[in-house]
Amino acid sequence: MSQEQLRPVRVGLLGIGTVGSGTFTVLKRNQEEIRRRAGRGIEIAMVADLNTERAKEVVGDAAQVVADARAVIANPDIDVVVELIGGYGIAKALVLEAIAAGKHVVTANKALLAVHGTEIFAAARDKGVIVAFEAAVAGGIPIIKALREGLTANQVQWVAGIINGTTNFILSEMRDKGLDFDVVLKEAQRLGYAEADPTFDIEGVDAAHKATLLSAIAFGIPVQFDKAHVEGITKLSATDIKYAEQLGYRIKLLGIARRRDAGIELRTHPTLVPMKRLIANVEGAMNAVLVQGDAVGTTMYYGKGAGSEPTASAVVADLVDIARLIDAAPAARVPSLAFQPDAMSALPILPLEQVVTSFYLRLRVADKAGVLAKITGILADQGISIDAVIQREADEVSEGSQTDLIILTHDTTEGGMSQALAAMQALPTVLAPIVRLRKEELA
Ligand code: HSE
Repeated sequence: MSQEQLRPVRVGLLGIGTVGSGTFTVLKRNQEEIRRRAGRGIEIAMVADLNTERAKEVVGDAAQVVADARAVIANPDIDVVVELIGGYGIAKALVLEAIAAGKHVVTANKALLAVHGTEIFAAARDKGVIVAFEAAVAGGIPIIKALREGLTANQVQWVAGIINGTTNFILSEMRDKGLDFDVVLKEAQRLGYAEADPTFDIEGVDAAHKATLLSAIAFGIPVQFDKAHVEGITKLSATDIKYAEQLGYRIKLLGIARRRDAGIELRTHPTLVPMKRLIANVEGAMNAVLVQGDAVGTTMYYGKGAGSEPTASAVVADLVDIARLIDAAPAARVPSLAFQPDAMSALPILPLEQVVTSFYLRLRVADKAGVLAKITGILADQGISIDAVIQREADEVSEGSQTDLIILTHDTTEGGMSQALAAMQALPTVLAPIVRLRKEELA
């Protein structure tokens, strides 16, 4: 069939906020180029938004505007529903209804897929429709495409990413200006880099949603957000950022998924990364993802993880994929989670105590003979090997009776470190709660 004979793919947008209006703009601006790539046109035929006035301002007469999302799903002329509402509530119902109505779905909703992905992908499989979600992880960076297709020859060893721009912006500012978290958060909100309610970003939940999706695609396991370790940046102090710097490390909020013999580590937490790694130098609101494959080695993907047109770039790429494959048999399409649904791995997500990593510890101690020996003795008892130790005069302590000990360890288990920490914390010469951060060499 020649290209001229293929009718355009008709799209219904649910929600036309920042990403929806970017999608409309990009599709319109690049329509000719996109048609040449897709082999057919892609038209936004219908838009549902509770704010119909704003929606009409964006789309003019180009598309029908309605307030009721279900009117889009019920329209037999719509081929693809793009869900840009977000959250787990109404978005979940609408995605499942769209699938049940035989529509392909494109979504930027990482929370929805990380938590309810198993149900949603199964429903899509039953109906023979595509659920595409490039925009759900790292905005404009085509990391889903890279993992699912470009790196398909590899056994992936690990994936580690800066996949939340808000927290990376805050960490960059804390380091640059030596300011504490609360001060920088307020500034980030004032500048529009952080939401009025930044909880999901600063508590690591957003990054953990994205890491969950990456783990599924990297290893062929189901999405299991409930088993992810989630830790944000709210407790980080400028002091630890400074000491890490003195030891040659930057602190980044990383989403990490790593293959071990016994299972998969899935964790999001502030992480010391050697300053010499490219990813340690990703600053501000930018995102970056490292993937280590057995054949390719380490690859890195960098770009804007949020914003109107960067995220729209990913949404439109999914629409082009669908336009190319809409008439293909479902078995001929790339599987949603990269692996064939009947060939998923049963590797479990490992409990946190089995996670293996190295650590940064900061202990406020009495500055007297034998203190360091006791502490290193406890680490030795747990079989934990020390990589480096520095002692620094604590900033806020005027008399010389207290000091900060900063210890870097080699790899050990979380379980072993927790026991060592409990024993160290019980020493009368340890004067404040011990700071424990994880470190990854990413070599
Ligand atoms: N809130 C996210 C971030 C952007 O700060 O990166 C959307 O995923």
